[in-house]
Amino acid sequence: MKEFTTKVKKAVIPVAGFGTRMFPATKVVKKELFPIIDKDGRAKPIILIIVEEAINSGIEEVGIVVQKNDIPVFRDFFQVLPSYYEKLSPDKQEYCQYLQNLGSKVTFLTQSEQVGYGHAVFCAKDWVGDQPFLLLLGDHIYASEVKQSCTNQILQIYAQTNQNVIGVRIISGTETHHYGCIGGNLVADGLINIDAIYEKPYLNFAREKLHVAGMKEDEFLAVFGIYVLTAKIFDYLEENIKQNAREKGEFQLTSCLDKLQKTEGMTTYLVKGKCFDTGMPDVYWQTMIDYKFH
Ligand code: UTP
Repeated sequence: MKEFTTKVKKAVIPVAGFGTRMFPATKVVKKELFPIIDKDGRAKPIILIIVEEAINSGIEEVGIVVQKNDIPVFRDFFQVLPSYYEKLSPDKQEYCQYLQNLGSKVTFLTQSEQVGYGHAVFCAKDWVGDQPFLLLLGDHIYASEVKQSCTNQILQIYAQTNQNVIGVRIISGTETHHYGCIGGNLVADGLINIDAIYEKPYLNFAREKLHVAGMKEDEFLAVFGIYVLTAKIFDYLEENIKQNAREKGEFQLTSCLDKLQKTEGMTTYLVKGKCFDTGMPDVYWQTMIDYKFH
């Protein structure tokens, strides 16, 4: 893929969930603040890796959707020097400046009630305005297999197609019930013609409705956690919220993505890279081992 300048300026990252799967650690620490050791040997909170992924891909402003009570901890991290600043080595003091600089691009948005990922995205509506925006999950990090980052790949597809883009990856049949899954047909260069999107389908349903021709039996396409969406998504989220249309008690994004792809069209792209869903204990553990070496 060639160099390009993205037209997408804003990224939204929701981190307001409870993280029940990471209990009991999440009684005291937000899962998005759990540390990962990166290539340079730095212990970074997951949210930092995600914000860097966005900013290093040309995004100018990041809106992090938080619970109101969590604003201080996130603000301290991104926008305040540590109380022990003087004790840090010169290179770590320099890193503090880098963090402050990154923090100046971060705005905190609030979700007052934890009623789902889709609802958290809706809380960014006013801040986003009417421009297309990048959406990144708050607990997923990425390791690209090519020179361009995973986010860059998605932004480039958007630059080429001018249409909603959703990144996907291949998962096994044992995982479909954890993720939003996509049915469609593989086209050239990792592009997929999408038919439908379903939230966390059971394997039998996936076998019947979501098999993608050309892929192995019991392999499916799941959302990768990186999207470029138009502001139209907020209309569909609002509709669901007004009608109290919940799925498993929560307002989800998936049904709104399905509406969006049917009305505006959507490009689905098989990202050249790996995604780590750090919101699950086993995957978090594996991420600790694998991420440093990506
Ligand atoms: P998840 O469904 O993985 O997160 O949401 P969760 O609800 O926090 O986790 P569990 O299922 O209880 O373990 C994906 C992202 O959306 C955010 C989460 O913080 C996570 O980064 N989210 C989820 C919100 O911001 N608000 C919500 O109401 C739900």
